[in-house]
Amino acid sequence: MAVSPISLQSLRKSQGTHETAVGLPPSTYTDSDFHQFEIESVFGSEWLCVGRQEQIPNAGDYLAVTRAQEPLIIVRSGSGSISAMSGVCQHRGMCLSASVDRSDEEMLDRPQFDPGSGRQFRCPYHYWVYDLDGRLVGAPEMAQTPGFAPEDIRLPQLAVEVWKGFIFVNFSLDAAPLAPRLHKLEAVLANYDVDNLVTVEPEVMHDVPFNWKIMVENFMEMYHNSRLHNGIHDFAPSSGAWYEEYEAGDGALFGFNQMVEADGGFNPTFKALFPPLPGITMEERQRIVFAFVPPTLLLGFQPDSAFWFAVDPTGPTSHDLAMAYIFPESTIEREDFDETLDAAIDGVGNFVRQDMPTNVATQLGMRSRFAPRGRYSWQEGVLAQFNSWLVERYEAASV
Ligand code: FES
Ligand SMILES: [Fe+2]
Repeated sequence: MAVSPISLQSLRKSQGTHETAVGLPPSTYTDSDFHQFEIESVFGSEWLCVGRQEQIPNAGDYLAVTRAQEPLIIVRSGSGSISAMSGVCQHRGMCLSASVDRSDEEMLDRPQFDPGSGRQFRCPYHYWVYDLDGRLVGAPEMAQTPGFAPEDIRLPQLAVEVWKGFIFVNFSLDAAPLAPRLHKLEAVLANYDVDNLVTVEPEVMHDVPFNWKIMVENFMEMYHNSRLHNGIHDFAPSSGAWYEEYEAGDGALFGFNQMVEADGGFNPTFKALFPPLPGITMEERQRIVFAFVPPTLLLGFQPDSAFWFAVDPTGPTSHDLAMAYIFPESTIEREDFDETLDAAIDGVGNFVRQDMPTNVATQLGMRSRFAPRGRYSWQEGVLAQFNSWLVERYEAASV
């Protein structure tokens, strides 16, 4: 059981809809004790997205990430299935996928993890070796250590579920499956062939200096589209926002931003730069879908492409942000793909350059003695839903 440093009665005021809810207590964005409570109550037993299946197509391919401050290895095993395990060496705790090949300037920075491929994992420190299932298969000079039983040593395993190509892991091995909670979102995405979209140019921004919830809120609410992004978001104004209702038990929150015309895009032409996604309807070509599979996965579906972000708190006021586009193969195979992708990334940069400083400044505001628990507009209805989802977890952990 975890204990919330903030009373549940106070937190509950943030539940409900925009008609009734107020913002979460500002200290939920700043306080170290609350952060620790949130890591346990939210991240300790929920499904956390770590990447996409096509990023590790072959046996031995692996991703090395952290989630909830835990180093993890996600690997395609010899049998073709995907497993997830702790990346902490069971000898003396070195993160076994961490690079030790670093410059003088970088050597004291936080460890660097890169994806890779191999038949085994060898810890760089004393060369203990683990197979793809995480079993210890080599440990030099340990024969003279009485009672040492390598066959009993295995990297701790996590539960894994793949949903539409996204790999989720769970620290709780008996967690209820995720997919049954996503059927509403699945229906909305039926025409997008999400399983077969391919991740392009994934990158991670480390220790982005604001609370993970500020990132989620900025991504999901469309109130600011016509204000902060005034002039560059006019192809999809805030007035065209609507959100699916949220009910306790739902595993995703999502909404739509209607566009003024079909095939709009986040770039100076306001037009999609790639061909429309095969299979989507005219109605779907005139809207953007924003979805959140809490607590980590943010999704955006445009007429010509999609993108995913994975949010991972690294402290009360920081998080890692993984970002990638996903495209159909047919788009990636186009001759002008690289060039067009550069233009698309440039275009999105115009929005990011407004959103990021706003988020940093909001974090500063949350520290203020005058920080509000403000009311929401209807165009922010999803924020009250997110609060509801969170408070359900805060409460469940506190009983
Ligand atoms: S800490 Fe990994 S082999 Fe010693
Ligand atoms: Fe924005």
